[in-house]
Amino acid sequence: MQIVFFGIGYVGLVQAAVFAEAGYTVMCVDIDAQKVADLKAGKIPIYEPGLESLVRDNVKAGHLLFTSDPKEGVAFSPLQFIAVGTPPDEDGSADLRHVLNVARSIARHMDEAKTVVIKSTVPVGTADKVRAAMTAELADRGRRDLRFDVASNPEFLKEGSAVADCTKPDRIIIGTDNLRTEQQLRELYAPFNRNHEKIIAMDVRSAELTKYAANCMLATKISFMNEMANLADRFGADIEKVRIGIGADPRIGYHFIYPGIGYGGSCFPKDIRATIRTAEADGFDPLLLKAVEARNEEQKSFLCTKILHYFGGDLRGRTFAMWGLAFKPKTDDMRDAPSRVLMEALWQAGAKVQAFDPAAMDECRRIYGERPDLLLCEGKEATLAGADALIVVTEWKQFQAPDFLAIRSALRSPVIFDGRNIYDPAIGERYGLEIHSVGRRR
Ligand code: UGA
Repeated sequence: MQIVFFGIGYVGLVQAAVFAEAGYTVMCVDIDAQKVADLKAGKIPIYEPGLESLVRDNVKAGHLLFTSDPKEGVAFSPLQFIAVGTPPDEDGSADLRHVLNVARSIARHMDEAKTVVIKSTVPVGTADKVRAAMTAELADRGRRDLRFDVASNPEFLKEGSAVADCTKPDRIIIGTDNLRTEQQLRELYAPFNRNHEKIIAMDVRSAELTKYAANCMLATKISFMNEMANLADRFGADIEKVRIGIGADPRIGYHFIYPGIGYGGSCFPKDIRATIRTAEADGFDPLLLKAVEARNEEQKSFLCTKILHYFGGDLRGRTFAMWGLAFKPKTDDMRDAPSRVLMEALWQAGAKVQAFDPAAMDECRRIYGERPDLLLCEGKEATLAGADALIVVTEWKQFQAPDFLAIRSALRSPVIFDGRNIYDPAIGERYGLEIHSVGRRR
């Protein structure tokens, strides 16, 4: 089977490589000629465990092809995936320009029936817009005779485990109002639908909403726990005990109830905002989602407030060691990362930051460039030299069991601000370190 992917960003590249590995021949189309050239040479533009070798091997085997010519892509297969980005507009709603450009381009070049599958994260109703754009383009060409269908097949991969998530999906949502399209997509996903049924077929609009609903639900869990952590902090309770206590109820469960300094990344913040805007545009006030977003924004300042309090409200001339910059471990992504809000607040207050992240150093350099109040260090130990305190922002494995004695002797003040609750304050105490966490008792 041959497949085409328009857009070789995060979702497109990972899914295309996983399809290629399953034995399909996949052609990826992207307008970025440099990206196409790099990928042909096996160089990948993102940090994602396992992806580089997957791409390299499949390029070599001839299963993964790249082009910047849409005409070539359209001619390659009846199955056309759209996986281009849907960046936020100024008001936070999803910008569908790239999705609709690809739709028009498919209609402009096609000369046989096509199934167009939307993989990009898009608001409800986008498939109808794609359909309308293609119909108009075909009418302009005088080719109303050409048949096509538009399906929704949202992606649920997580950064840092994207290859595994795609290879072993927990569900495959097929949104279509057409039985033939459903059969076609069932056949495509057959290699990933072994052991037990993972395909859930539904109508297009429900599939579109399923994607947003999943991310909104997960973000809600996080904001809820962060709110409880604030209460725990005030009332002298320990949120980690509370987490274990509530998670034991199978109706609540242990997944995704870890408090911290807020969710970030390219998905949750963008998707929650886009859902809010879509609802408002339709005259509905999404009270709960607005609260989820507001709590998250507030939560990013949680540690900064504690730091200010600890240092008597004045951070001028202070230096902070920072472990972790990416929005979560196993990625170099700093989009909407809580580290950025924290770092910028520290700079604003006149402090310096000495930071280390196992993957996001280049990304941090790209975002902030050279500046006198930011020192990017070679390793986590180097950040401690001359620092007043240590701040832990991302829970990378290599930060989880540090040499507390070395930290104690390197820091000017014996204090760690732990934004991900990875250290037991009682252990810190044994080493003479004060550990300030998110809603944890010291
Ligand atoms: C998220 C979803 O988990 C995926 O299912 C979805 O496919 C993806 O968005 C997407 O829409 O493309 P991702 O953004 O890669 O995936 O990251 P997550 O692992 O979900 O983490 C998101 C944020 O939530 C991180 O900042 C993380 O630190 C935070 N988080 C997560 C918590 O603060 N507490 C938790 O208990 C879990």
